[in-house]
Amino acid sequence: MPVSDIADGRSAAAGTTTALAYQTGFGNEFATEALPGALPVGRNSPQKPAYGLYAELLSGTSFLAPRALNRRTWFYRIRPSAKGTPFRPYPTALWRNGPTEEVPVPADRLRWNRFAPPKAGTDFVDGVATLAVNGDAAMQAGMGVHIYRADTSMADRFFANHDGEMLFVPQTGRLRLATEMGILDARPGEIAVLPRGVRCRVELPDGPSYGYIAENYGMHLRLPELGPFGSNGLANARDFESPVAAYEDRSGDFRLVVKVAGRLWECDIDRSPLDVVAWHGNLAPYRYDLARFNVMGTVSFDHPDPSIYTVLTAPSDTHGWANIDFVIFAPRWMVAEDTFRPPWFHRNVMSEFMGLIHGQYDSRAEGFMPGGASLHNAFGPHGPDQATFQKASDAALAPHKIDNTLAFMFETRYALKPTRFAMDAPELQADYHKTWDGLAARFTGKP
Ligand SMILES: [Fe+2]
Repeated sequence: MPVSDIADGRSAAAGTTTALAYQTGFGNEFATEALPGALPVGRNSPQKPAYGLYAELLSGTSFLAPRALNRRTWFYRIRPSAKGTPFRPYPTALWRNGPTEEVPVPADRLRWNRFAPPKAGTDFVDGVATLAVNGDAAMQAGMGVHIYRADTSMADRFFANHDGEMLFVPQTGRLRLATEMGILDARPGEIAVLPRGVRCRVELPDGPSYGYIAENYGMHLRLPELGPFGSNGLANARDFESPVAAYEDRSGDFRLVVKVAGRLWECDIDRSPLDVVAWHGNLAPYRYDLARFNVMGTVSFDHPDPSIYTVLTAPSDTHGWANIDFVIFAPRWMVAEDTFRPPWFHRNVMSEFMGLIHGQYDSRAEGFMPGGASLHNAFGPHGPDQATFQKASDAALAPHKIDNTLAFMFETRYALKPTRFAMDAPELQADYHKTWDGLAARFTGKP
């Protein structure tokens, strides 16, 4: 589509809709302009940028980060971001931040039903509820695990998270992120990632929306190493999509809400901050269709470690110990011989938060429902429930496809501390521990 079609007011909030356009590749050096010639050639900060635009740098890594990891983007915008008024506190509602310990971290394994919808008229900013946190946003380590529940598009206000990159996992309803770099949509089954500090307006083209967020205080999410897999497989770089430049030249009475060190702040602004006419760089929001994930698995025996299902990983300072691994359990064939095929019983040093987009997870016969969640902190023992164990133990081991399901996991090296909201929620299942009650001793004393 011609770039002029996306120059102004194409978003749902402005009452118009237009097909969206994307550039492909993970972390590419993108270059995009909504007006011809808006992007300077051969330099970043010319004395007089075209169209009377202002040049502005947004860095996502320190200037001295190694070249392969360095992320930054140059904006060419109608007004510099520096123009603004003082901030005032904004109610943080159910947002929480690391470090927070509102309740003692329970030793129990936890599971929740799908959380109830918000009150009518809730937009994204007011619709976020934190389930668990770890680390320290100010120290750039750890994460927040949130759900979002909203039925209203943001219209006259904008949001930026200075604390962390946000990985959105929609479960119900399409999420439209109108950002400084352009506009992207994510439907259930897709994910979207918004870099730290990028201003956006969250719109809900399909109405009521619900989903999960991993807020990453640490190093950027990146593609995992492929090791012996070679140069292809898992999430392929070419399948990630970033928006093309799109701008709004709108003056008016708007608000900007920012999250800084765990608190929300609000200020008045006299224009839309989505006024970037052109940009270039490798720091950009992106989306990815999880159906494109090239699932790897055993073709001989045993259930491999679930690290082979890693879509994105945010490393910590210790090699191999992720701040966040984003892992999916997607449709796949099970062909292992002489193998108990579902996930085995385990007690892991990493902490595991799981959600279900649709279908049924292969380790649970019941109780883990779409929109629900579970949290197994470090060393919390878990595995298949009794019904699943029995069925898998007796199954004829013909090739079998696990289909029509999509579950995911945020796995982290740091123990996740549930919030008071999560622990007081009526959706918390008091009888989750009974999942494994039926697993009686089967020891016979004979081989
Ligand atoms: Fe697990």
